[in-house]
Amino acid sequence: MGWLFSFEGLDGVGKSTQVDLTRKWLEGQGLRVRVVREPGGTDLGEKIRDLLLYQGQHRDGRAEFLLFAAARAELVRSVIVPCLSAGGVVLADRYVDSSEAYQGAGLGVDLGLIHAVNRSLCQSAWPRGTLWFDGVQRTEGLAGDLIETRARSFFDRVRLGYQTLAEREPERVVRIDADQDREQVSAEVIGWLRLWMSR
Ligand SMILES: Nc1ncnc2c1ncn2[C@@H]1O[C@H](COP(=O)(O)OP(=O)(O)OP(=O)(O)O)[C@@H](O)[C@H]1O
Ligand SMILES: [Mg+2]
Repeated sequence: MGWLFSFEGLDGVGKSTQVDLTRKWLEGQGLRVRVVREPGGTDLGEKIRDLLLYQGQHRDGRAEFLLFAAARAELVRSVIVPCLSAGGVVLADRYVDSSEAYQGAGLGVDLGLIHAVNRSLCQSAWPRGTLWFDGVQRTEGLAGDLIETRARSFFDRVRLGYQTLAEREPERVVRIDADQDREQVSAEVIGWLRLWMSR
């Protein structure tokens, strides 16, 4: 079995930048790396991504969660599990914790439902480690999708959701100060990966 690591945090904090730097470092170590982004990564997943991010503003939080979950189910089965089984490393640009932070803490969807569905979908494809990037949202990184246009109070709740996760599961979810320059952030990320991969 390989390793699965996820990159979490608000939009524009530098997740994708760090996914890319981490991929390069891992490949330099001779490892096979697969990067996935949520929602998306499969044919159905990309269609759901379009629905979720660009079509229709008002919807039930549970419906939103279940659409993310449908995309995740496809991604786990067709991409993540095969890569892990082949001994590769999967870097997920958002994953299960985004559901708890965005739909759970942000929209008030029952955390029991979210956790049960995520556990059932992912099973062994659970992150070995999760990096929560916490810092200023850089507007030039914002894609301008529908979720990004929500109120400030929504994002305050999402941030608290991530903080709760980091406090609840300190061995898996670590906070990274995303306001440092990208090389400093990357050094911290790689330090955590080294630790998680050595255990
Ligand atoms: N440590 C850093 N210092 C300064 N600028 C950074 C740093 N990390 C990333 N950036 C820049 O900030 C912007 C947002 O970064 P990035 O796209 O990686 O964020 P993201 O979290 O993936 O955003 P999104 O959630 O919208 O995909 C980009 O223009 C990127 O080049
Ligand atoms: Mg990104």
